[in-house]
Amino acid sequence: MQQEIITSLDFGTQKLSATVAIREKDELKILGVQSCKSAGIEKGLLLDIDKCRDVAVSLLKDLEKKTTVKSERISIGISSNKVRVTEVSTVVNIQEKVTSADIRKALKNAQRDFILSDDESIVDVLINFYILDNKVIRKDILNWKGSKLEINLTLVIAAKSEIEKYYELFRKTGYNIGSIKLNILVGKQVFLNEKNSMESIVIADIGAGTTDIALFTDGIPKSINSIPIGGRNITKDLAICGKFSFLKADNMKKIYSSNYKALYLDNSLEEEIEVGTTKVSRKLFYEVVNARIEEILSHINIKLKNTGHYDRICSIILYGDGVNYFEDIDEIVRKIFKIKTKVIRKNDLGIKNSENITSMAIAKEVYDRLNLLEDDNIILTNKHNDNKVINEKEHLHNNEGENHILKKVKVFFDKIF
Ligand SMILES: Nc1ncnc2c1ncn2[C@@H]1O[C@H](COP(=O)(O)OP(=O)(O)OP(=O)(O)O)[C@@H](O)[C@H]1O
Ligand SMILES: [Mg+2]
Repeated sequence: MQQEIITSLDFGTQKLSATVAIREKDELKILGVQSCKSAGIEKGLLLDIDKCRDVAVSLLKDLEKKTTVKSERISIGISSNKVRVTEVSTVVNIQEKVTSADIRKALKNAQRDFILSDDESIVDVLINFYILDNKVIRKDILNWKGSKLEINLTLVIAAKSEIEKYYELFRKTGYNIGSIKLNILVGKQVFLNEKNSMESIVIADIGAGTTDIALFTDGIPKSINSIPIGGRNITKDLAICGKFSFLKADNMKKIYSSNYKALYLDNSLEEEIEVGTTKVSRKLFYEVVNARIEEILSHINIKLKNTGHYDRICSIILYGDGVNYFEDIDEIVRKIFKIKTKVIRKNDLGIKNSENITSMAIAKEVYDRLNLLEDDNIILTNKHNDNKVINEKEHLHNNEGENHILKKVKVFFDKIF
């Protein structure tokens, strides 16, 4: 197998993160990861293409220097804002054994037959499971003998006008879009386990401008949601209440997030805490932050109640940097969710920082698809699809469950490095 370069780029509101990897023999080798401050993205949507292009291109160039590998095709990861998912089935006849070409054909048929509205385009197709001559198969379908192959798929459908902006961003940059992934759906690469169950697992990425949520049943995405709130709202509240700039508020938030409750409770301290010349009352800081975190989590809870799967949710995994750094986050989470919930922090991941999780997960997703289809660009409308077998999940009703999640996360990172 020849070497193939896989470059991914996670477009976040606060930061961009890129990964350069190669597909080599049976391995995905990560050559470099890097992040930088984002620009031109608000609430997960690309608003200022020129500003965003500048930072994206400079990040990719930096990584090229660092890895001495030239990237051309970029797999981008975007927020779920203005995106929906739907499940479909498609059938192809098999000559003798299942080949990559059969699967590619099935995916193309499914896309061709699905009716979209004018402002929609299919950006990705996920393979959930196969039925080969009445036998359900979850993965490793290649070379199975049979005659009729049915494939259960999830189509990822985005607002065309939003997607066109990303194509515009890369125009004349020397890079082009190889595939488009939903950041929250690639989260399953890191957080979902390979076990069958009809219970549901939720992963929620609380970022700077958006909170993206995906609910998986038996590894299949049943619903996705995007709420336009995140860590930036906490900063904005602090800036307004404390009457200082956004930057000062963000700085203060990051400095005190790990002990803001302890400071609030410690009556031996001065009334105000300070960073440089900026001062704020301990009580105000605590109350503002606490109220906003509760609000963000309550919004997630409401969205989950509206999925129709609430009673089947056995676990919620919260990641992203928007609220996870706060001292009492576990306590607030327990108060809001009645379901077993695990907050994933960078220490849990055993990595120096958690900023690059999503771009690494995108690279893994693209790698898996290449292994299955030998082609990462089979999306008819303008882009590609995904493969990926089902990743089932895990029961988390007991303490052992948490360890399983962490084990899975560790396996992901061990394999990748
Ligand atoms: N130490 C910290 N304490 C508190 N908040 C923090 C800390 N570090 C980062 N944050 C906050 O986390 C948020 C950034 O999270 P993240 O990097 O997950 O967002 P993003 O992926 O860029 O944005 P989005 O996913 O919303 O598009 C910012 O609001 C930032 O202020
Ligand atoms: Mg993000």
